[in-house]
Amino acid sequence: MRVLPPARIYDGHPMRAADAGNLATARRAVVAGGRVAWRTIRHRELPPATFRLATGLAVWALAFIIVSGAAVRLTGSGLGCADWPGCTTTQVVAPWQFHAWVEFGNRLITGLVSIAVGLAVLAALIRAPRRRDLTWLSLGLVAGLIAEIVLGGLTVEHKLAPGYVTAHFLLALVFLADAVILHHRAALADDSPPGRAGRARPAGRPVAMVSREHLILSRLLLVACSVVCLLGTVVTSTGPHGGAPQAPRFAFSLHDVAQLHGTSVEVFLFFTIVTLWSMSRAGVPASVLRRGELLLVVLVAQGGIGYLQYFTGVPAALVALHIVGVVSVVWATLVFNLGLYTRVPDTEEPTGPPVPAFTPELVP
Ligand code: HEM
Repeated sequence: MRVLPPARIYDGHPMRAADAGNLATARRAVVAGGRVAWRTIRHRELPPATFRLATGLAVWALAFIIVSGAAVRLTGSGLGCADWPGCTTTQVVAPWQFHAWVEFGNRLITGLVSIAVGLAVLAALIRAPRRRDLTWLSLGLVAGLIAEIVLGGLTVEHKLAPGYVTAHFLLALVFLADAVILHHRAALADDSPPGRAGRARPAGRPVAMVSREHLILSRLLLVACSVVCLLGTVVTSTGPHGGAPQAPRFAFSLHDVAQLHGTSVEVFLFFTIVTLWSMSRAGVPASVLRRGELLLVVLVAQGGIGYLQYFTGVPAALVALHIVGVVSVVWATLVFNLGLYTRVPDTEEPTGPPVPAFTPELVP
């Protein structure tokens, strides 16, 4: 028979010596970690790289809640909790029923997103050095979160009226855009050395790496993406996935609005192909083309899912995949636009590609 090492009393509990040692080591690590965290907060000395990690976490958290919110709608659980913020007028926590828990689970995920947003704001305030652009963008996340919580409550109160559902979804995309821009800007170097307390600005000045015409075309892609998403929400608010069987619907023909939505996607795709074709002929930097190609791939895949779900009677699983596609398309369109600029030292002449009529454009 195996002989166990003698038990020790640790913190009032008997345990093996090895376990007691592990526990003591874990405790020391937690205390040391806590001290480092507290010193970082007190002296406002968060490294820029850690700040960027916090912004990345916010982007993923927001992308996740857009998809999980759709799960509520697709399982018909939109009114699983008829009250807000408690699940019912008499119960804060949902009763043990499927729809109630899907809806309530999404509210819990909202709590996790709130933590991710709170961390991003705290990180912006204790970043060394502090940057005004990053602080404002992270405060934008808080404003978005508050607006979404209020709008979510109004949506339940108005029994999933399509106008509220649409606004709730579109605001989530704006909120995601804020986080993506924040994450992008967090990667820009500061004009003062890292770790130094006080204020800083992004180093250098932004210069477009593409011609003015290409900038206009790329901005048009943002407009096209917005129109496609707006029309998509109209299709959803007309179609069968209203969030609950009794949810009111727009009185349009589903066929007509889906066709309009599909046509807007074709226009978006057309402009993307024209932009990339023209850019590759002009010899723009490879990084720009790479992001453009990524957008094209995501767009084609999302278009395919869109048509497939339409012709198969909008099954919930494909609609969920379509929402993942929405997040990916919005993200890729933004990243493509943000990546059109490089930063050059204030004294240096811009070094763009050999494109005709090169006109540097400043980011506002
Ligand atoms: C760039 C490609 C596309 C984007 C960005 C996009 C975006 C969207 C958005 C934002 C929604 C609303 C989601 C919601 O409110 O929860 C939606 C719904 C929808 N889209 Fe698209 N879409 C694209 C391509 C397509 C295509 C090519 C079709 C084919 C006709 C299509 C068919 C639909 C349908 C049927 C719905 C309603 C699904 C439901 O019942 O919830 N989509 N789309």
